[in-house]
Amino acid sequence: MGSTQLERFRMNKQRRHILISSSVVTAVAAFGLPPAFSGKRDVHGGPVDVHIELRAAPDLINIRPGSPTQVWRYKGKLLSGDPGVLDLSAGGYLGPVIRLRRGQRVRIDLINGLPESTIIHWHGLHVPEAMDGHPRYAVDPGERYTYEFTVVNRAGSYWFHPHPHGRTGKQVYYGLAGLLQVSDAEEDALGLPTGAQDLSLVFQDRSFDSENQLIYLSERLGATPPQRSTQGGMMGGRMGGMMGGGMMNRGSTRAGGMGGMAGMMGMFGDEILVNGKPGATLDVVPRAYRLRLLNASNSRIYKLAWHDDTPLTVIGTDGGLLEAPLQRNHVMLAPAERLDLWVDFSRWPAGTPLTLQSLAFDSGTGGMGGMMGNMMGGSGALADGAPFTVLSVRVQGGVPHAAKPLPPRLATLPAADPSAAVNAGSAKVFDLTMGMMKWGINGRSFEMLETTALETVKLGTQEIWEFRNDSSGMMSMAHSMHVHGQQFRVLSRSYGSNGGAHPESAGFIDEGWKDTVLVMPGERVRILKRFADYTGLFLYHCHMLEHEDSGLMRNYRVVA
Ligand code: C2O
Ligand code: CU
Repeated sequence: MGSTQLERFRMNKQRRHILISSSVVTAVAAFGLPPAFSGKRDVHGGPVDVHIELRAAPDLINIRPGSPTQVWRYKGKLLSGDPGVLDLSAGGYLGPVIRLRRGQRVRIDLINGLPESTIIHWHGLHVPEAMDGHPRYAVDPGERYTYEFTVVNRAGSYWFHPHPHGRTGKQVYYGLAGLLQVSDAEEDALGLPTGAQDLSLVFQDRSFDSENQLIYLSERLGATPPQRSTQGGMMGGRMGGMMGGGMMNRGSTRAGGMGGMAGMMGMFGDEILVNGKPGATLDVVPRAYRLRLLNASNSRIYKLAWHDDTPLTVIGTDGGLLEAPLQRNHVMLAPAERLDLWVDFSRWPAGTPLTLQSLAFDSGTGGMGGMMGNMMGGSGALADGAPFTVLSVRVQGGVPHAAKPLPPRLATLPAADPSAAVNAGSAKVFDLTMGMMKWGINGRSFEMLETTALETVKLGTQEIWEFRNDSSGMMSMAHSMHVHGQQFRVLSRSYGSNGGAHPESAGFIDEGWKDTVLVMPGERVRILKRFADYTGLFLYHCHMLEHEDSGLMRNYRVVA
């Protein structure tokens, strides 16, 4: 680290410390804990295997025919390391694909070129608290944040996105997201499809106005079309006209009025983008492929199936490969979840029109959620649980390559042993609640530095947590619960008063390592999670980003 950079780092640290100390008073007074800021940043400026710069900034790109669309996106630059680390060919507005090896030491400079504060979270990676993108580390426009960590995760498909307080939904929606893939020797040994046969598919739903500009809740990115001058803070698009001014506030993160409510229930766009492109078509050759799916939508759940009911072969989830492949007729993919599929396209004759569908399902969304979801999607709204085509696939002609058979055993995972938990007899219960028009967990909404006794865990232990979505009626909605830190295992689910299986349970992939789990209305889901390596303050929250931004997020603290 050069001396000016070091100086800047010290100044930033100092400045942040001052900013934090005013808001920390209540937490400290209430819990007698030192400020969370004790977590020192392990940035040495020493040699690293990979050094990347990621600049978050506005950009103008072509998404639909006609006018270009204003977006916010990550632009990557490889400062040192193997050129294969940064794949800049990712589609549309998506950030570069970052390809890392397990064991690598990585430095990443985030440069904030946005008009508001931001910070990046490496979703699914296990990193020290100051590297995890907690909103308290958000940096102002023009500032930078330097991350440095060692990749300890096993091979798998992870991703990165913003995590500032109350504005994650908006920033992701405007385009800030990218893939981060980790490889390791265990995975290499399997000989899974690589190169052009290892494809990532990022699913997102968006709404555009008649000038091709993104509409987030009531807010249009760039208040005026690109060719005119900008006037900040104007209502734009359909919703502005439909709902009338003032009903939907910018950001909509505060309770109150229709705006607060709509913002809370979730953003459902009426166009499905794959890798940032609408109406996506994938050309494949008649060979075996690895398809890495990520649901990077703000709130939409997908129920994925091939149009002809060919079973899906699932080989991996959030935290990498499963022990053995699974066959399913359809799979549910909640916001932030990943699935790796193995597909042998030689099974279909060349020229067969093939589509990946999202099937209709009952999301269980109560009256208010359903209504607001529909309204927010605009007049042609694609409601929560409505069916649609996700992707078209064209199988090219040619001599089919005999697909290398998929190994029957992919990995060895430790057994998920509930008796290893320190609270084996009594799961910690986290009720997903709605009170006073604000989401919460056990009735508490997010506070920057707050944790309760229940949210305190001991370093090196395992715990059983139970997420309860007992909500019903008007405010019932599914939640996609994500816990930062190490990957966890799903132990069990129960649904309804007699503890049966949810009607959609055939599509849940609960096997393997997970960092995000769908909890449908009426469901209770138990997970087993280890808290090793790093002490400090970490997040757990609903990954339906409007829920997260309006309170359905809390901290947990790992103590020595
Ligand atoms: Cu992908 Cu806390 O988030
Ligand atoms: Cu939620």
